[in-house]
Amino acid sequence: MRLLIMGAPGAGKGTQAALIKEEYKIAHISTGDMFRAAIKNQTPTGIEAKGYIDKGQLVPDSTTIKLVKERLMEEDCKNGFLLDGFPRNTAQAEALDEMLKEVGIKLDAVVNVDVADEFLIDRITGRRTCLACGASFHVTSKKPLKEGICDICGAELVQRKDDCEETIKSRLQVYHGQTAPVIEYFSKQGIVKNIPGVGDINEIFANIKKALGDL
Ligand code: AP5
Repeated sequence: MRLLIMGAPGAGKGTQAALIKEEYKIAHISTGDMFRAAIKNQTPTGIEAKGYIDKGQLVPDSTTIKLVKERLMEEDCKNGFLLDGFPRNTAQAEALDEMLKEVGIKLDAVVNVDVADEFLIDRITGRRTCLACGASFHVTSKKPLKEGICDICGAELVQRKDDCEETIKSRLQVYHGQTAPVIEYFSKQGIVKNIPGVGDINEIFANIKKALGDL
């Protein structure tokens, strides 16, 4: 299965992506996680990306598209993949279509997790992230078993630098201005599944499975 998961910052893409990956045994490709790993390792991509991410802006398309193209060529994507955080503007969407066309494959579905802005600030400011494995938790709605420690890999949980209120405003502006039109782009291909993203995490996942059921 070849999927995209879309939604505003904090909509729960990463949370649902972890469940989808487990259920369908497909590679989870999160451009945000890839950039954070590159920043941690101080690679040239990480050094370039940091300035944009800290301001809540998009990393330039040339860097992002190259990163995704290389990742999609890896062996584990042959069984299918779930792209999370890419594409984020129509130029990236067109580049993705082009990449897939070159290798003769198509997307099966775009899961759009729909959450109104009023819920997003609390979700993002309360999020705690594992920089080792990318898992995300929340101080009230998804507490780790042991405070400050990742349930999955045991590493320390931290608050992302771009999860402060000021940067969130800019991320939301970028989302509404540049990323929301990508949903319209894929709607024209008839592959978008709109899933309400407020409520119990497992119920939202059950709705995603139902929407993907006939693929
Ligand atoms: P990225 O890492 O992709 O961030 P984002 O899109 O802003 O999304 P988030 O990670 O903030 O949220 P999420 O939807 O995954 O929510 P989560 O599941 O964690 O990108 C970061 C930056 O990298 C960008 O700003 C940009 O600079 C750069 N970048 C990345 N991709 C790029 C690209 N393609 N082009 C250019 N630049 C790019 O959930 C949020 C919180 O809510 C968690 O605490 C979670 O526990 C909680 N939660 C989840 N579901 C629920 C629920 N149902 N009820 C209550 N709480 C919930």
